Amino acid sequence: MASSMVHVEHVTKTYPGGTQAVRDLSLEIPEGEIFTLVGPSGCGKTTTLRLIAGLEEPDAGVISFRDRRIVDIAQRIFVRANVRNVGMVFQSYAIWPHMTVEENVGYPLKLRGVSRGRIREQVAATLQLVGMAGMEKRPAPLLSGGQQQRVALARALVYEPDLLLLDEPFSNLDAKLRDQMRVEVKLLQHRLGITVVFVTHDQVEALSLSDHIAVMNLGELQQVGKPELLYQHPANPFVRDFLGKTILLRGLVSARGADGQVAVGVRGADDCVLFARGYDIRGFTPGQEVNVAIRPEDVELVAGEGIGTPTSAIGGTVEARLFMGERTEYRVAVPDQEPLLVYGRREQMVDEGGQVWLRPHGQNIAVWPA
Ligand SMILES: Nc1ncnc2c1ncn2[C@@H]1O[C@H](COP(=O)(O)OP(=O)(O)O)[C@@H](O)[C@H]1O
Ligand SMILES: [Mg+2]
Repeated sequence: MASSMVHVEHVTKTYPGGTQAVRDLSLEIPEGEIFTLVGPSGCGKTTTLRLIAGLEEPDAGVISFRDRRIVDIAQRIFVRANVRNVGMVFQSYAIWPHMTVEENVGYPLKLRGVSRGRIREQVAATLQLVGMAGMEKRPAPLLSGGQQQRVALARALVYEPDLLLLDEPFSNLDAKLRDQMRVEVKLLQHRLGITVVFVTHDQVEALSLSDHIAVMNLGELQQVGKPELLYQHPANPFVRDFLGKTILLRGLVSARGADGQVAVGVRGADDCVLFARGYDIRGFTPGQEVNVAIRPEDVELVAGEGIGTPTSAIGGTVEARLFMGERTEYRVAVPDQEPLLVYGRREQMVDEGGQVWLRPHGQNIAVWPA
């Protein structure tokens, strides 16, 4: 792994009034990557970003940039925000409406006493970078949402910060523009090689944009890892359900294998035994009630009319069919289970009321205590 750009150690932050927004948080943010903090609203993402930026002071803990201590509460060290060389785009990115694009983007340089000629050069180069070359003189009110977003990004990048902090920067954009900006931020990060800490509550944004993800809930870190790892091997049900959809099946442990796998008989489907892995395997014993978790894309839906019982399949009845364009989703009633939401292929439609078989496959079946 690359060396770390930001190191957060045992940081806690309580706001006046008593809300503990961040609890004993430790993070290592590698240099030159996009590192994403994701979690539901109120879990402490913005607070964490503001602690890194120096806009909030923690109650306890240490924050370092590379090997330099920026904050150490026990040692009474606190480096002020304006000398941390961090660029930040807030959720409400608020560019100044009475200024042109050039004045907006050049403002941080003006504050730093940079000469006019140099400001002009830097602004032009940064606008080029965010895809707004030549738009210097445009008044801010005449920009579209996406263009305003780019100006906010340019303003955060113009003084060449070591670290770029982005707090839900796309939340005010419509879905199409959000998809486009996501790709652009990724390309921009590749070009600049800058370290980006990205905050979002959107799991798709987190999965698609990040080199590493930290999932937070109620001020506490849940799991850190690469997107694929978190999606395939979530450490707890919170991470599992936050990062994507899950089909949960009730079952009984029938055997434990030496290799750490657990055989689970699915309730309501006599013939269906699934081989699943647990995050913490020690807890499972034969006869124990468990839940088996499978991602919907790992369950094959087969039309049931006129075929015999396939091996290790779960029989059910289609309650509702939802055509989604790229796929069709089926709500399937299964004996002794909650109704399941399953994906079907576009070329194979099953009518509502039709019989189907569900066949879980793949290596990523997980077992959890019921
Ligand atoms: N300035 C503040 N004063 C008091 N409580 C705050 C303040 N800012 C945030 N909080 C509280 O701290 C918790 C975490 O907030 P925040 O970091 O903004 O979460 P997120 O960005 O994940 O939505 C929430 O309960 C929020 O209400
Ligand atoms: Mg926030």
